[in-house]
Amino acid sequence: MLFMPQLKSLHAREVLDSRGNPTIEVVATSTASASAMVPSGASTGSHEALELRDGDAKRYGGKGVKKAVSHVNNIIQKKLCGMEINHQRALDAALMELDGTANKSKLGANAILGVSLACAKLAAIEMGAHFFEYLHSISAHSSKASSNYLLPVPMMNIINGGAHANSGLEFQEMMIVPAGAPNFHEAIRMGAEIFHTLKKILAEKGLPTTVGDEGGFAPRLPSHEAALDLIMEAIQKAHYQAGRDVFLALDCASNEFYKNGHYELTIGGKKKKVDAAALAAYYEKLIKKYPIFSIEDGCAEDDWEGWVYHTKKLGRKIQLVGDDLFVTNGERLARGVEEKVGNAILIKLNQIGTLTETMDVIEQAKEAGYKSIVSHRSGETEDTSIAHLSVGLETGQIKTGSLSRTDRVAKYNELLRIEEFLGSNARFAGNNSHL
Ligand code: PGA
Ligand code: ZN
Repeated sequence: MLFMPQLKSLHAREVLDSRGNPTIEVVATSTASASAMVPSGASTGSHEALELRDGDAKRYGGKGVKKAVSHVNNIIQKKLCGMEINHQRALDAALMELDGTANKSKLGANAILGVSLACAKLAAIEMGAHFFEYLHSISAHSSKASSNYLLPVPMMNIINGGAHANSGLEFQEMMIVPAGAPNFHEAIRMGAEIFHTLKKILAEKGLPTTVGDEGGFAPRLPSHEAALDLIMEAIQKAHYQAGRDVFLALDCASNEFYKNGHYELTIGGKKKKVDAAALAAYYEKLIKKYPIFSIEDGCAEDDWEGWVYHTKKLGRKIQLVGDDLFVTNGERLARGVEEKVGNAILIKLNQIGTLTETMDVIEQAKEAGYKSIVSHRSGETEDTSIAHLSVGLETGQIKTGSLSRTDRVAKYNELLRIEEFLGSNARFAGNNSHL
């Protein structure tokens, strides 16, 4: 390329995420400008890259990000300015070298990711490309024709539990997956109709229709089965067929109920203490009763033995997704592949901290025959980068919350725009072909 725009400046500021907690926004400038905002988890895995918080109790209860902001505005800016903006791998390598730690604890993964993403968005603008096109062009599949674009099947979290709500349910997310839709916008319509039908059903039963962190309802229910029954009723009353048009998925986020070597959760309406084998038997029961095609974090982040057992038991029947287990980390994924653990990886940019590492792990998963699901965090912003990542890297699935709250819907809306823009140059990953 003849024209190689250079990074002129970086500017970070403290803004708010969807939970009202501070997060970082970074503006990168060359001849143009682009900005990116960083999300934040609640049920974070302990192997994630470090999110740097100030710890000053006088500001935002210790959650301020002034230190991360200052790292961008000073030390990172000094190192990166003058670098060519379209060399993402070199930019990210410079960030990693500057930090020098395994978990990005010196500069903060939030500072690093904000810069990494803002630079990539800026490069897309400089090249006159949409962000997803740019990501596609720098991915390992850049030689492929653009007609290979894949629009992801959305996993929509319509009942929130666990650390995201006060519903009393241990499972964090109960999702509907309109994989039988003919295209992306119909999948969105189906999801929204089911969401509104569920709202009506809850109201009729005198249950609250307020929503949790990811925009799903959070009623107090006696059991997970009661929650799944309500979702099944909503699917049917919205005139869709569960198991054909719409499937179910769970994020158990089992770290949160793994205590002293046991899983403590509500089974059949009663609190129980079980081992990984009994937990697998419970999941198996649920899979038989409901059209569940995917379970995320069915075992805890360091319960590798439990994961091996679950994969043997359930891995041929359903998708088993590692979120807190793999933390978008190539080394942990490599161990998983080696030990035959899970068959899919959840992709969260801020778990690892740079765009390059995230794209590499998606590629690594593809080569190992694992599915990738691009995901939001429970604390989100209006940034829509993950919509572009899912299309640019052809992951086939995206998990970005319910059909309410602008922080969730922003990603769906961006995908609607991308779908319209691509027209016949994209196909929808649904119709079960990609699941
Ligand atoms: P988190 O939840 O962003 O709070 O970690 C999302 C998930 O567990 O998938
Ligand atoms: Zn998860």
